[in-house]
Amino acid sequence: MSSRQITLTVNGALHTVEVEPRQLLVYLLREELGLTGTNVGCDTSSCGACTVLVDGDAVKSCTILAVAADGSAVTTIEGIADGDELHPVQQAFREQHALQCGYCTPGFVVAAVALLRENADPSEQEIRHALEGNLCRCTGYQPIVAAVRAAASAGGGAR
Ligand code: FES
Ligand code: FES
Repeated sequence: MSSRQITLTVNGALHTVEVEPRQLLVYLLREELGLTGTNVGCDTSSCGACTVLVDGDAVKSCTILAVAADGSAVTTIEGIADGDELHPVQQAFREQHALQCGYCTPGFVVAAVALLRENADPSEQEIRHALEGNLCRCTGYQPIVAAVRAAASAGGGAR
């Protein structure tokens, strides 16, 4: 299958890469760019472990072709912190013990960042609704919701 050249910004860095038309964005990120914080939990758009920001929107990167991200700005979990300074969502996940095995955590953090940018003070119900596309197989939802609320209180929506 003939490959195609695309250019996209990932975590602030411009990349021009050759991709097969069938390649999913998640595999471009993980295998070509080495950004393995974005996980593949299902490959069937069910779990949310692969969530990244595409032009600011939370997107499951196993549901989008890499060619569809041509010209886009992508942010992965590796680009959420500001240097050594954790994003308030990351800090809150740490403080609220909102992770167990951690496999789902990058997807939850990215989805929560997108939520707080849209709604800086979400209710518990709004948080649960926004994160319903993300599954935690350890069933640690209570501390995850608490972490998002804490991040909102810490001004996470402004970052
Ligand atoms: S790997 Fe994308 S939703 Fe599960
Ligand atoms: S912390 Fe284990 S799947 Fe979420």
